[in-house]
Amino acid sequence: MRKKLVAGNWKMNNDVVESTALAKSIKSLSGEFDADVEVLICPAFTSLYSVKQELCGSNIKIGAQNMHYEDKGAYTGEVSPVMLKNMGIEYVIIGHSERRQLFFEDDETVNKKLKAALKHGLKPILCVGETLEQREGNVEKETVRNQVTKAFEGIGADDAVKITVAYEPVWAIGTGKTATSVQANEMAAFIRKSIAKIYSLEVSENVLIQYGGSVKKDNANEILTQSDIDGALVGGASLQSLEFLNIINYAK
Ligand code: PGA
Repeated sequence: MRKKLVAGNWKMNNDVVESTALAKSIKSLSGEFDADVEVLICPAFTSLYSVKQELCGSNIKIGAQNMHYEDKGAYTGEVSPVMLKNMGIEYVIIGHSERRQLFFEDDETVNKKLKAALKHGLKPILCVGETLEQREGNVEKETVRNQVTKAFEGIGADDAVKITVAYEPVWAIGTGKTATSVQANEMAAFIRKSIAKIYSLEVSENVLIQYGGSVKKDNANEILTQSDIDGALVGGASLQSLEFLNIINYAK
């Protein structure tokens, strides 16, 4: 049976003091999570160290929101997978739609980053999803299938199962609009089918597929009980500990 993964993507919010306080609050409210639910927090780079210290002794995992694909070198302003790994970071979000749209990350870069993360033993969360225009033009499945196919290119089955895919329709991110549970599950099932075509049914059944886009406590239950959805990638609602905890509770 697949585990559920509920991840908080704090984006460019919270300084070190605020991040540590939020992590502390989540930790103290959470108690022990069910073994079937993995909880992950992804703060800004500047807060990774202090949040990691704060989470010490808890089951809550820590991840970065991005990374470069090179180990080191003249890449001003970038952070490498080696640096993250050496710091004890376990997860990394790759190809978030904000990275794709605002920082022009293309599928080739996403593929390189995935390979680099896997090479260094980081667990990647690969974000895919269509824009409103693409959904209205009925090319949402084609768009997502292309993103998935290009992202997994050249990655062996042993590594493919280590990737979590987050289906995040761009029109639902930070907008308050959520995909209906039917739309979300349909796309999650479609992603699973696409992975089965590249690898095998077995691989596709083992890959975790999250939904992301305006997940909050009011819609979490419906989304998290869908057959092909194995958790959520939560932005705005993960910035409040009680709201985030409520979402996690629905994943149990
Ligand atoms: P949101 O963000 O929950 O604020 O819509 C989700 C995400 O970008 O991962």
